[in-house]
Amino acid sequence: MVSYAADIRPLFNARDLSCMRRKGVKLDDYRWMSDPTGGDGYDDHANGRMVFDFVRPDGSEPRMPMGGPYWEDAQVRLYQQWMDGGFQP
Ligand code: HEM
Repeated sequence: MVSYAADIRPLFNARDLSCMRRKGVKLDDYRWMSDPTGGDGYDDHANGRMVFDFVRPDGSEPRMPMGGPYWEDAQVRLYQQWMDGGFQP
């Protein structure tokens, strides 16, 4: 099972966290990342799914982290598995 604390939180570095926290994107806040509420075109878990759409290839622009280096395919897959597994803590 993919876990936020063990697998997802470590994908974000200090720059990611500080840049995005200023914009209200709380990458290090499990409750924000796993909020089941939909919105912005997402039926559910809008926060976590929007983050995914910015880090995956061919997703929302500009791809995050801004300027790269972008996530490896394995890291993108891990995040996908975290979503598929129900956004576990
Ligand atoms: C909801 C998802 C996200 C949105 C809408 C978003 C949006 C943005 C925008 C608009 C900027 C440009 C800010 C500016 O120049 O004023 C930015 C910068 C940045 N974002 Fe994101 N971002 C998202 C997720 C992420 C994620 C998941 C990461 C890391 C994996 C990330 C890392 C960064 C970094 C490092 C910068 C550059 C900050 C700087 O150097 O000033 N962002 N983001």
